[in-house]
Amino acid sequence: MRAVRHKLVVGNWKMHGSRASNADLLSALLAAQPPVTDDADVAVCVPAVYLQDVSARLRGSAIAWGAQDVSAHDQGAYTGEISAAMLAEFGCRYTIVGHSERRTQHRESDELVAQKAQAALAQGITPIVCVGESLAEREAGQTEVVVKRQLSAVIHRLAHCAAEMVVAYEPVWAIGTGRNATSEQAQGVHAVLRAQLHAATGHGATLKILYGGSVKGSNAAALFAQPDIDGGLIGGASLNAADFVAICRAAG
Ligand code: PGA
Repeated sequence: MRAVRHKLVVGNWKMHGSRASNADLLSALLAAQPPVTDDADVAVCVPAVYLQDVSARLRGSAIAWGAQDVSAHDQGAYTGEISAAMLAEFGCRYTIVGHSERRTQHRESDELVAQKAQAALAQGITPIVCVGESLAEREAGQTEVVVKRQLSAVIHRLAHCAAEMVVAYEPVWAIGTGRNATSEQAQGVHAVLRAQLHAATGHGATLKILYGGSVKGSNAAALFAQPDIDGGLIGGASLNAADFVAICRAAG
């Protein structure tokens, strides 16, 4: 099932940054020579309040930008939420959905994550759907069951549109811990997810599956060399221009 899948590297800034530090970070990314986007498709997913600023700074560049979450609803009495149509108004290209921090801290269910992915796609925004097991689930031998359950809710809801999403495998125990999955561990899960996507959509060969969880300049190349790893979703290391550039280069 090997196909040409262009690598994608996405920075997930989480709740970090300021107008000044964002400007510095983006200037450094834009100044990198050769351009980071020569090596991979590159995007940054930023806090909602900075979306407009970031979109203005990246206008005309090949670096795309996205949100970190989106409402499942079109509009209405949902205080604090942001709809996909609102994001689309600004030209948003991607949104993360179902990040493990939202699944745990905001009790987002598989079904809600699927609805969010659907809401994004309906506005032409590519959802980056995160799946991943906790340490307890891995130790109980439940990794495959958990990630397949999380992905199947999304596949089921998106139906034929499932071919348009990006999937990110992020083992919860590897996020922000400095403890990344080995390339072999990650590849094993990616192969399972790809087979599931292929069986359900027929598009397993072209769908991108990113790895996330303590990706750094020093481990990115080995991860990205795996046949089913199509790039990365990068948290901490995306906040430092040199580190993020090194990861983008490793995707080339
Ligand atoms: P990390 O985060 O790279 O800091 O581990 C990844 C993520 O949560 O998307």
